[in-house]
Amino acid sequence: MNKCSFGSDNHSGVHPQILKAIERVNEGYCFGYGEDGYTEGVLRQIEALLGNDCKALFVLNGTGANVVSLSSFLDSFSTVLAPSCAHILEDECGAVERFSSCKITPLPHIDGKVVFDEVKAALCFGDQHKVQPKILSISLPTEFETLYTREEIKALAELMHSVGGYLHIDGSRISNAASAMGCSVKEITYDLGCDVLSFGGTKNGLLIGEAVVIFNLKKNRKIADNLCFVRKQATQLYSKNRFIAAQFEAYLKDDLYLQMASHSNRMAKYLESCLREKLGGKIQITRPVQTNGVYLSLLPLSDEAIDALRKKYIFYIWDNRTKEVRLMCSFNTQKEFIDEFIEDLSKKGLF
Ligand SMILES: Cc1ncc(COP(=O)(O)O)c(C=O)c1O
Repeated sequence: MNKCSFGSDNHSGVHPQILKAIERVNEGYCFGYGEDGYTEGVLRQIEALLGNDCKALFVLNGTGANVVSLSSFLDSFSTVLAPSCAHILEDECGAVERFSSCKITPLPHIDGKVVFDEVKAALCFGDQHKVQPKILSISLPTEFETLYTREEIKALAELMHSVGGYLHIDGSRISNAASAMGCSVKEITYDLGCDVLSFGGTKNGLLIGEAVVIFNLKKNRKIADNLCFVRKQATQLYSKNRFIAAQFEAYLKDDLYLQMASHSNRMAKYLESCLREKLGGKIQITRPVQTNGVYLSLLPLSDEAIDALRKKYIFYIWDNRTKEVRLMCSFNTQKEFIDEFIEDLSKKGLF
């Protein structure tokens, strides 16, 4: 076990309050599959947080949340529009495509963000030989931990709605986005026209569990009513649902989800400032640091030096050509670990 890791925010453990919450519901017996009374109550809390005009259900993991969210909106001949770096395209082994039988159409991106005009240009309908765009999927924060502005999200939602389409937000780190943008989760999803949200937990201190949330029930009622069937078919209905519910109850209590997210965001900012102050001339920070990830190029370092660093500090090389690496902070990243990393990185002879 490593002391810490920059590899991913899911390399971290579970927040003690979340573990306590699991223990609290471990006594006695109750119905499974969320039919225990308690789980429903926690789902209503999530719905209240997001403005009540929505339907929430628990799923097991982020990939499952995306599969259930997107499949619920698709016809067999639909296509999902997404930035070419999207997790659903690059890192989910084709799960959405296999389960929904729909293609995902990759769009160009800048630092993980789709460009409005590229989305507009991809909205071509009516040719019977081509798949038909139905939903745009964006990640917030993006795959490079960057942020859309509220105006950008609203414009994308309006664009999709203007052609009868939908907006999905892969919010596996939505709490990090909310905290960094100084907004509530509702203000960056429902209020801007998001139709369906993958509301993440695991990357922000939970043991297991995410929620799928369908918004705007006047418009999306039928989809919301069918959500439980899609979830079951997608093998995302966990029999002991109360254990996910308990985690989410603790997650929302006293805004623990925001506290954890703001800590990881703060640590990323601290890491960025240390890198700039101590190594400013030697390394290049390659993406804007807006939530809990820092991207930099280790091009000046030899492969041997990078390997030695990676042994002590787990992190991934994002682009072998440019030696761009990703350093992720999590709810329990310690300042001291960052200091130690910077110290090692600034050692004489490394560059
Ligand atoms: C943006 C994003 N979406 C979805 C997922 C999938 O989550 P999981 O690994 O729990 O399936 C990840 C995981 O890293 C992710 O970064």
